[in-house]
Amino acid sequence: MSRIGVIGAGYVGLVTAACLAELGHDVRCVEIEPARLTRLLNGKLPIHEAGLDSLMSRNTRDGRLSFTDKFEEAVVGADVVFIAVPTPPAADGTADTSHVFSALGAITEHALPGLVVVIKSTVPVGTGDTAAGIVAEAGKQIEVVSNPEFLRQGTAVHDFMEPDRVVVGASSPGAAQKVSRLYAALEAPVVFSNRRSAELAKYASNALLASRISFMNEISSICEVSQADVVDVARIVGLDRRIGNQFLNAGLGWGGSCFPKDVLALKTFGEVVGRDPKILRAVYDVNFEQRHKAAARLIAAAAHRPEPTVAILGLAFKPETDDVRGSPALEIASMVAAQGIRVQVHDPVAVEKAREAAPRLMYAEGPEAAAMGAHALLLATEWREYLHLDWAVIKRAMSGSVIVDGRNALDGRYLQDLGFEYFSFGRSGDSRPGESRPAALFDLAEYELNAWGAIS
Ligand code: UGA
Repeated sequence: MSRIGVIGAGYVGLVTAACLAELGHDVRCVEIEPARLTRLLNGKLPIHEAGLDSLMSRNTRDGRLSFTDKFEEAVVGADVVFIAVPTPPAADGTADTSHVFSALGAITEHALPGLVVVIKSTVPVGTGDTAAGIVAEAGKQIEVVSNPEFLRQGTAVHDFMEPDRVVVGASSPGAAQKVSRLYAALEAPVVFSNRRSAELAKYASNALLASRISFMNEISSICEVSQADVVDVARIVGLDRRIGNQFLNAGLGWGGSCFPKDVLALKTFGEVVGRDPKILRAVYDVNFEQRHKAAARLIAAAAHRPEPTVAILGLAFKPETDDVRGSPALEIASMVAAQGIRVQVHDPVAVEKAREAAPRLMYAEGPEAAAMGAHALLLATEWREYLHLDWAVIKRAMSGSVIVDGRNALDGRYLQDLGFEYFSFGRSGDSRPGESRPAALFDLAEYELNAWGAIS
């Protein structure tokens, strides 16, 4: 078992630290933000992440996981030190790697010969090589390895323990082996490459997943004018094993702290190195158009009404997390509020973080209270509890009848029967402004009759 340091107790650092401790390693995690460190030292998690609580308490209790704000405690005597600090977007769209390099500086100061530094943070191609140059110049015998993460928030512990692959980008076989051995207990293929390929593969993975969603959002827009249903289209397309059925849900598009930042960073990197990243540009633009479309629909329904009000259900960027970074809901809320419309919001777990990011929204106790007096309602995050709401009660609470299903997750026909004007992203049977419920676009019984008729 190895002695490991992890720099940064954000969601990637914490999950990495707790999971490596669970695999039996001795892990010390450095967190320099005092409030966050105090929480951790008191056994409290700063994030909502399924399964992390029990891993944390078990491993701290058994002495395999500890927290500190002193680099030397994590670095001196360690075999491997992970850098898991944020790389937020800089003003020009590139990833800001300043935290990575300041962590590297502090590690280098305390490192003993033979240490392997692993860059876990998502960093631009070439960052590992630059880091290797810096430690060499400092005269330190330190190896730098790229080991990107593929952890989804909400299922990060599962993704760590059952990865599709472990990527190790290294310039020496010794360092590569040292890092791959940390994961020996996991049943996963290990892919060895150079540092640059590992770094680019991380961006390419996120950008490709984001592009599938943007692609389906573009298809959804074509569905809207051709009476096709994007949910059916996605199901049919996804059954092709060459394509697969994941990340094909049309709607408000992708948010979070990763896809928006990483697509932007890769696009900007492509531009900086003199390539014209046409696809990445389109992937990005299509995504953010979805938010404008939703906001326009809500504004049209509420503006010019007495006490114009809009309700938004779901603030987390996706279900099963309390993270509101890059949340489509919050951006739409601010577009709507900018028109002088009151915005009443609810989320089952993300309210505390949402309040910090958007203190001026009206935070309701429950979905019904959020809907009270609203002229239009947006389902922005498909939390399970919203899918089973008593929509008749919601309808009675509202002053208007427009519902925008931002995740194509609700039963539009049922909602129309309750008197809602239902709008989705590319599903057939939407209400059109000024129209009553359209006749069924597709009658299965009639279709089957015709089909049999054609055969016989
Ligand atoms: C993403 C990647 O999935 C991880 O592999 C990666 O490690 C992580 O970023 C990262 O770079 O750290 P995450 O941001 O947690 O993970 O979220 P996803 O589950 O990928 O969802 C991203 C967004 O896409 C969400 O807003 C979600 O609502 C949206 N989405 C997802 C859709 O709009 N449609 C879909 O079909 C799927």
